[in-house]
Amino acid sequence: MLLLLKTLLKNIVPIGEYVMTKFLIIYSSVDGHTQKICERMRLNLNKGNNVKIISVEDICREELIKYDFVIIGASIRYGKHRSNVYKFIKENKTLLDKIDNAFFSVNVVARKTNKSSPKNNPYIQKFLKITKWEPKHLGVFAGKIDYKKYNLIDRLMICFIMWVTKGPTNLNGAYDFTDWQRVDDFCKKL
Ligand SMILES: Cc1cc2nc3c(=O)[nH]c(=O)nc-3n(C[C@H](O)[C@H](O)[C@H](O)COP(=O)(O)O)c2cc1C
Repeated sequence: MLLLLKTLLKNIVPIGEYVMTKFLIIYSSVDGHTQKICERMRLNLNKGNNVKIISVEDICREELIKYDFVIIGASIRYGKHRSNVYKFIKENKTLLDKIDNAFFSVNVVARKTNKSSPKNNPYIQKFLKITKWEPKHLGVFAGKIDYKKYNLIDRLMICFIMWVTKGPTNLNGAYDFTDWQRVDDFCKKL
């Protein structure tokens, strides 16, 4: 029996190693929420795979080529993904296209059903237009509003946007709009 188990293990382990995918998750995050979504993805993808998370500010080309699958997640501030995300994609588009890849955006308009999918989310559409990149997988997740974290101007601006879009306006509140099940489902598709 023991011998049989040993033989089985010997044969199974190399197969497991062979199918292991090396994922690199790159984030662009100001208040940490996109990073948190990336951490959740890491937990999902970790099973049997090698997953590394890194900020878009710290990634270099030499690092990128070591991976089979690159996921880029970026948040929206005042209608835009940050310029370092665009710069990174422009500089590495050819390389990214050679491996599996995914892009997702984090913003609060995605909390509304009519803006919650890549097809109807305005920031994803704008991103595709600007970059002219066609990621193999696209995602969009609703973000978080944590009024107390922001400076006075940002707090008032966000409060105004929330008021206009019928969202929460309590300046002491923190509101996590992320549907974590959707994050998990996104990982299952990758
Ligand atoms: C100053 C500021 C501006 C924002 N502007 C927008 C916006 O224009 N559209 C939007 O949908 N969400 C906007 N958001 C919401 C963010 O996208 C959301 O808070 C997200 O979770 C931030 O992710 P991060 O912590 O990874 O940066 C804004 C948030 C802040 C604090």
